[in-house]
Amino acid sequence: MSASDTLSFLMAWAAAPLRVGSVAPSGATLAALMTHEVDAAAGPVLELGPGTGAFTRALLARGVKEEDLTLVEADADFAALLRRRFPTARIVECDAASIRALPLFDRPVVGAAVSGLPFRLIPPRKAMAILEGVFANMRAGGALYQFTYGRRCPIDQVVLDRLDLEVRRVGSTLRNFPPATAYCISRMNTTARWDWRYA
Ligand SMILES: C[S@@+](CC[C@H](N)C(=O)[O-])C[C@H]1O[C@@H](n2cnc3c(N)ncnc32)[C@H](O)[C@@H]1O
Repeated sequence: MSASDTLSFLMAWAAAPLRVGSVAPSGATLAALMTHEVDAAAGPVLELGPGTGAFTRALLARGVKEEDLTLVEADADFAALLRRRFPTARIVECDAASIRALPLFDRPVVGAAVSGLPFRLIPPRKAMAILEGVFANMRAGGALYQFTYGRRCPIDQVVLDRLDLEVRRVGSTLRNFPPATAYCISRMNTTARWDWRYA
């Protein structure tokens, strides 16, 4: 994490604390935790709220091709920085809640999504719109990785239930400021819910 990234983050947080949600970019340990289940086989990868690109760099280190990355960032300064840093990635400067209405892919091809969005500060209705947009583009077996500084998955259980999504804890790290936990969110495994009494 460079000093200039830390400064850009602090300035972005001072301008829009609820949107940026953190005073510093994620460290390398959290970035590795968030991306270690993703590799080049994922194909197109969606990243929400990349900020200065901490998880983007980790995805590239995992072998994901830069041209397979679609980065959705609402902050204009971060989006400009991402365009300079990752020139062959697709940078979409918009609110992640609007991807539901955007023709980002012509069919559900995304193998993985990685999110730095501050879901604890996002109202349930908007969280629902964001997740609908993500999973509308996700192929079967794809998953969304999300971190939190809190003790539980930051996405409301009511929202997850409405969308038939389930959560698995990936791991935690104290080597981040603040310490963080990563979760994997995927479509519910309907075969696991099969009720044998009606078979
Ligand atoms: C906590 S920072 C995480 C940045 C980066 N992923 C990291 O871990 O260092 C949250 C990021 O999400 C962006 N963001 C917040 N709400 C957003 C939204 N609704 N749509 C798109 N980006 C958003 C912020 O501008 C910021 O870049």
